[in-house]
Amino acid sequence: MAGVSDDLLTTYQLAPSILSADFARLGEQVSTVMDAGVKVIHVDVMDGHFVPNITIGPVVAAAISEQVHGAGGVLDVHLMIENPERYIDAFAAAGADWINVHVEACVHLNMTLSQIRAAGCKAGVTLNPATPLSHVQEVLGDIDYALMMTVNPGFSGQDFIPGVVPKIERARHLLPDHVGLQIDGGIGPETIETALDTGANLFVAGSAVYGAEDPAAAAGQLMAAMRARGN
Ligand code: DX5
Ligand code: ZN
Repeated sequence: MAGVSDDLLTTYQLAPSILSADFARLGEQVSTVMDAGVKVIHVDVMDGHFVPNITIGPVVAAAISEQVHGAGGVLDVHLMIENPERYIDAFAAAGADWINVHVEACVHLNMTLSQIRAAGCKAGVTLNPATPLSHVQEVLGDIDYALMMTVNPGFSGQDFIPGVVPKIERARHLLPDHVGLQIDGGIGPETIETALDTGANLFVAGSAVYGAEDPAAAAGQLMAAMRARGN
């Protein structure tokens, strides 16, 4: 899986968030988008402390990881939780391939990122909309991708915050070429061109995919916009 995972980090990829899926038929909802060509499945983990909402834990990641890997994809776990270091090994054991943590939740960021890599996963660092890009500067050697939130984390279905765009553009210039740049929140048919203009290559979409009448078609439309830009 290592080679596949590396390519996925630096090419255009749509990462549907299962937070907006129908949990009563989660496996089927994952198949629907993977059959349409999706390779990255985004898992939003919330603890009711770092963010107001509570969502899912390692048990749910484990329930879909074999299916995702079997289809040649990766599980991208977004930890919106306090003390993320306590849960990294559990998500790695559940089959997570990529794990990202918020700088706002990490007291010992370098250590936490090293822990993700030691667990065999790709490590990502995540910034809330108001968190300065300078927080990434000292961990450039410790990350495989960076996530710039384009909403305040906690819920799907929020509006894309255009004020984050200049930070995303600066992030692309700061990050080495082998480091992926992900954005998350409010990405859909109306914002995908703006999102692509920023230089990001990994696009999380929750409600735009799973809130659509036809999730496969919605994912296909967003992936077509990406293909039109290259790789
Ligand atoms: C927000 C989550 C997002 C969210 C995206 O806290 O991190 O991944 O599910 O949902 P949409 O695409 O609906 O904004
Ligand atoms: Zn997310």
